[in-house]
Amino acid sequence: MTPMTTKEEVLRLLQSSQGEYISGEDLAQRLNVSRNAVWRAVKALQGEGCAIEAVTNRGYCLTRTPEALTLAGISRYLPQNGDWDIRVYPTISSTNTVLKEMAEHRAKEGTILIANEQTAGKGRMSRPFYSPAGTGVYLSFLLRPTFSPQKSLYITTAAAVAVAEAIEAVSDKAAMIKWVNDVYLDGKKTCGILTEASFDMENRQLAYAVLGIGINLREPVGGFPEELRPIVTSVFNDATYSPDGRDRLVAELISRFWGFYRHLTDKPFLKSYQERSLLRGRDVYVINGSEKTPAHALDVDDEFRIHVRYEDGHEEWIQSGEISVKPRTNFS
Ligand code: BTN
Repeated sequence: MTPMTTKEEVLRLLQSSQGEYISGEDLAQRLNVSRNAVWRAVKALQGEGCAIEAVTNRGYCLTRTPEALTLAGISRYLPQNGDWDIRVYPTISSTNTVLKEMAEHRAKEGTILIANEQTAGKGRMSRPFYSPAGTGVYLSFLLRPTFSPQKSLYITTAAAVAVAEAIEAVSDKAAMIKWVNDVYLDGKKTCGILTEASFDMENRQLAYAVLGIGINLREPVGGFPEELRPIVTSVFNDATYSPDGRDRLVAELISRFWGFYRHLTDKPFLKSYQERSLLRGRDVYVINGSEKTPAHALDVDDEFRIHVRYEDGHEEWIQSGEISVKPRTNFS
């Protein structure tokens, strides 16, 4: 068994004190750590939704623990006949990384890993993905597609629509998609998607694809890190967040994505995707390496290419990949 972290030990001691205050000094002595380490653990637990009161000269008292992310909680909202193998983790390095390892060891299509926290969350372009506990949900689906690898973009675009529709099913927000697959609320990013695939050279098919989705559910205590603050937002706020809403959102996402995936090459999500296009009708820059050309985004075609018109009147349909398209002004 892995040893408990200071955070887990502090939580255990506060839980066992049953509503009584324990001083920081007492906690520090019992755990053989510094008072500062206790204070940091308390802050982290508060960030995860534990209500811990801190009173001078008395210490800390736990008044409410967050309802943990559990399979039972999510399953309440999933259809009984779903053929998934869902595993829920309080914390994991990265759901994508672990699921890729499982895929190499023959895990079946429909294996889904869901985590409350990632310690090494991955974003696109090898960027880290901020994945703190208790404020987001991080999940990955294992797929073993039999369709042509050329259609693999459909996986990500279907996922973006499934996220957008799931958010709308559990909140009063209108979700938009920034080409190709970022989900936006109120002009800011709330969900990122990273699909990683393994190609089988022999039969020229995908051996598997791991679709990873990270959604900001609520703002961490103290807000998002400074550098993310202007660009990210969350589905819920402190007044609208509930563990039940979180569980419904995850279940809605799984059901909707799976519904799309079963008929993926028919693109049943295309219209919803096109209607949610955040770039449509906006002035943009088309960025190709160091070249940045002003253009106007017209629409997204039925192969998820963005259709732009340059200032000289020339039009182009851009495929996702090397070239990126960015709005010329902020969304909000
Ligand atoms: C991005 O916006 O750059 C993509 C972010 C993808 C994050 C998700 S969270 C679940 C899965 N596991 C990871 O390590 N990454 C993806």
